[in-house]
Amino acid sequence: MTISNKKSESNESSSGSTFVPVEPFEIVVFGGTGDLARRKLLPSLYHRYRDGQISDDSRIVGVSRSQHSRAEYQELIEKYYHEFAKGEEFDPKLWAKFIKLVDYVSIDVMADKDWSALGKALSGKSDLIRVFYLAMPPRMFADICDGLKTADLVHEKSRVVLEKPLGTDYDSAREINEGVGRVFKENNIYRIDHYLGKETVQNLLVLRFGNILLEPLWSNQAIDHIEITAAESIGVGGRGSYYDGAGALRDMVQNHLLQLLCLTAMEAPSSLDANDVRTEKIKVLRALRPITPGSVKRKTVRGQYARGKVDGEAVTDYMSDVDVTESSTETYVAIKAEVDNWRWAGVPIYLRTGKRMSSRRSEIVIQFKSVPHSIFGDTPVNPNKLVIRLQPDEAVKLWFEVKEPGAGGMRLKTLPLNLSYADNFTVRYPDAYERLLMDVVRGNLSLFMRRDEVESAWKWVDGILEAWEQSEQRTELYAAGSEGPAEADDMLSGYGHKWSEG
Ligand code: BG6
Repeated sequence: MTISNKKSESNESSSGSTFVPVEPFEIVVFGGTGDLARRKLLPSLYHRYRDGQISDDSRIVGVSRSQHSRAEYQELIEKYYHEFAKGEEFDPKLWAKFIKLVDYVSIDVMADKDWSALGKALSGKSDLIRVFYLAMPPRMFADICDGLKTADLVHEKSRVVLEKPLGTDYDSAREINEGVGRVFKENNIYRIDHYLGKETVQNLLVLRFGNILLEPLWSNQAIDHIEITAAESIGVGGRGSYYDGAGALRDMVQNHLLQLLCLTAMEAPSSLDANDVRTEKIKVLRALRPITPGSVKRKTVRGQYARGKVDGEAVTDYMSDVDVTESSTETYVAIKAEVDNWRWAGVPIYLRTGKRMSSRRSEIVIQFKSVPHSIFGDTPVNPNKLVIRLQPDEAVKLWFEVKEPGAGGMRLKTLPLNLSYADNFTVRYPDAYERLLMDVVRGNLSLFMRRDEVESAWKWVDGILEAWEQSEQRTELYAAGSEGPAEADDMLSGYGHKWSEG
C-alpha cells in the first residue's frame, strides 16, 4: 500500500490529530452531483486524503443522471469545495493529486439498463474494498442494488451505505431493507445516521461508560427528567419538496433524536463491538411506551414556523419557503417519551427539535432530583443538572450548589463545573461524515444502525403519525427566531417541568 501524500503507519494532520491510514478502496457515490455529495461526502473524502488516511491507489466515482465529462466533474467538485468547505485549509498541489482519484459516470439509475460504464470506471479487482454510497431518495435503493447485481458489480468486499431517512414509515422501511438485503448481507449494509459520527455524540459513550461517578446516579433513583434538544436556526432551504412530505418527526426524531435517546438510556454494552452496542440500543427502542390517539395531545406538540427574525434578519414563513399555500407539515416537534423499564420508570424524556428557532443548539440535559431534605430552611436549593452540549460550543457542564462567599447568612449559588472542548482540545473536529466514511472502509459497523433498530424506531414513530391523523392534531404556528410554540412550554408545565435554558 502506498500513501504518497503523507508518510508512515499513522499520519499526523496539520491540526495535530493522528490518523491511521485505511486500506485502498473504491467508492461509488450515487447522487454524485447532489446536495450531500457536494456539501459533505466529497469534502470529507478530500479531508481524509489531506490527512494521509486515503492512499493514491483509491478511487472515487461520482454517478448521476447529468452528462459531464470526467474533467467537468472534477471542476464542479472543486467549485463546490470552495463553496461549502469555507475556513478549511486548501492546498492546490494536494488537491491536484486528490482530484486524480476522482472519476464520473453518467447513469440514469431508473432508466438505463446498461451500467457497463460504471464497471469500466472501477478497478475490476475483487480483493479491493468497494463502497456504494446511495445518496439518493430511499425509494430507489432496492432498484439501485438490483442494478448493481445485474451489472455484476457486487463482490465479497462490497458494501453499501444507505442515507436516511430509510423509508417514510415501518412498511416502506421493511420493503427497502428486504430489497437491499436481497443483494447485500446485513453486515455489509451501513445505515448511516450522521449524528453518531459527531465527536460529542461519541463522547456520550465515554462520559457514561468511562467514568464511575455517573452510573450509580443514572436512573430514576436520582434523575427527575431528561431533555434532548436539536434546535436549528436554518429553515428548510432548498429541500422543500422532500421536507414537506417528511416533516420534523421523520426527518429528525425517527433517527437522530431516537439515537441520542438510546445512547443516553441504554445499559452498558459489554464492548464497543457493533452488535453489543446495537443490541443495547434496540432494547431501549422496544421499551418506548407507544403514543396513542388517546395520549397524543398530552404528549406531543407539532409546530410550523411563521415569519419572524433570525439573527436580526427578517425571514419568510415555512409555506413560502416550500412554495405551497397550505401545509400542516411540522417543522417543530416536542414529545414526552417514556422508557418502560426498571431504570427509567417515571422519568420523562422530553424530545424537541425545530427549524428556524432562535439559535442552533443540540444538547442533552439530565435534570437530577432535589436533595431529599433541605437543611437550609427557606433558602431555595436547586437540583443538580448535567448539560451535555453536542453543538456548537461542545461542552459538559455540571451545575452545583455552592455557598456564596461573605457574611449575611447562608446564601446558595448555582455554578457550573465547565468542561469545554475548545478549552481543552485544539484539534480540528472532523465532520461526522469523515469518521463514518472511514468506518465503512474499515468495516466497523458500531456507529451504523442495524435493520431491527431502524424498524423499531419507525414502529414508534408510526404510532405518533397515526395518532396525529386520527386525533386531527393541529400544527401550531411559532414565530421564526423564537423557542418554538408556546404549547410546548405548556406541555412541560403540565408535567411540572420547564425547558432548560442550557
Ligand atoms: C439532517 C436533516 O439529517 O440533519 C436536516 O435531514 C438537518 O433537516 C440536519 O438540518 C441537521 O444536522 P446537523 O449536523 O447540522 O445537526
